Amino acid sequence: MIRKVLVIGGGTMGRGIAQTAAAAECEVLLCEINSALAGKAVSTIATSLQRAAEKGKFDAARIPAVLARIRVTDRLAEGTESDLAIEAIIENLPAKQALFKDLAQRLSPQTLLASNTSSLRIADIFSDVQGPGRVLGIHFFNPVPAMPLVELVRGPATSDATLADGREWVERLGKTAVLVADTPGFIVNRLLIPYLNEAALALQEGIASAEDIDTAMRLGAGHPMGPLALADLIGLDVVVEILETRARVSGNPHLGPCRLLKEKVARGELGRKTGHGFYKS
Ligand code: 3HC
Repeated sequence: MIRKVLVIGGGTMGRGIAQTAAAAECEVLLCEINSALAGKAVSTIATSLQRAAEKGKFDAARIPAVLARIRVTDRLAEGTESDLAIEAIIENLPAKQALFKDLAQRLSPQTLLASNTSSLRIADIFSDVQGPGRVLGIHFFNPVPAMPLVELVRGPATSDATLADGREWVERLGKTAVLVADTPGFIVNRLLIPYLNEAALALQEGIASAEDIDTAMRLGAGHPMGPLALADLIGLDVVVEILETRARVSGNPHLGPCRLLKEKVARGELGRKTGHGFYKS
């Protein structure tokens, strides 16, 4: 059973995974590239829990215990005791491959190795890792504490026991798991991200204002938020990365990002994380 979890990467997804795992009684070690970033990740988690408590979504009395279960480090070597190592680092294949090659050597052969990749293939990420039976994709959705779905993805040699342990952990976190084939974007991003691109294209072509596009999809299609606000939440750089991967792998350039998205990313307008995307926050 997975009880000790090493989360590598303290960005939006890594923080959300760490928070959710600690809220489900797991001991979490959150690893960032330096101690300043690691400390910032935990203070952001504390603020998020406080906000959730104020909205009545989380019991305020549990916050100290949840935070006490999250340790931070800038040294991967401290994670050798983990039952599961899950990464949420930059969406870059060589970076993920190098990380797992290193982790596979440091950690016990029993430790499960998981990637939260949003667009890369599990087979590629773990292509050179010792013990390919223990690897899998565990893909969470943003904001992690609030989104009830997780996609589970098998690599070419993932064992039944690894998949069962991954599924049991995800369910203990209160999430519903779906099993998806190892294709770029899996199922949710494959359907969702082209829709966000189309919304940006509609804005680029002057079909409606950003506000009216979002209102249209909230009130006309019953979505909890409009596509441009959602792109800001996910991060426009992440959206562009997923679209570019899909275009490259499929060999169909029409599946790539529209000009407006690329321009915004080039200007550093990445959405909520920079305070400016389609909206200012
Ligand atoms: N425990 C702890 N925190 C909780 C919580 C819980 N049980 N439930 C919610 N929260 C937190 C959230 O994490 C969030 O934290 P924040 O203040 O730090 O941002 C906050 O409470 C808001 O959540 P609420 O449920 O209170 O907010 P709303 O009811 O306003 O709903 C929403 C917000 C959940 C974002 C909703 O608008 C929604 O579902 N939007 C669509 C989101 C979506 O489609 N996500 C998928 C994106 S694709 C993706 O992530 C894949 C990746 O690979 C790109």
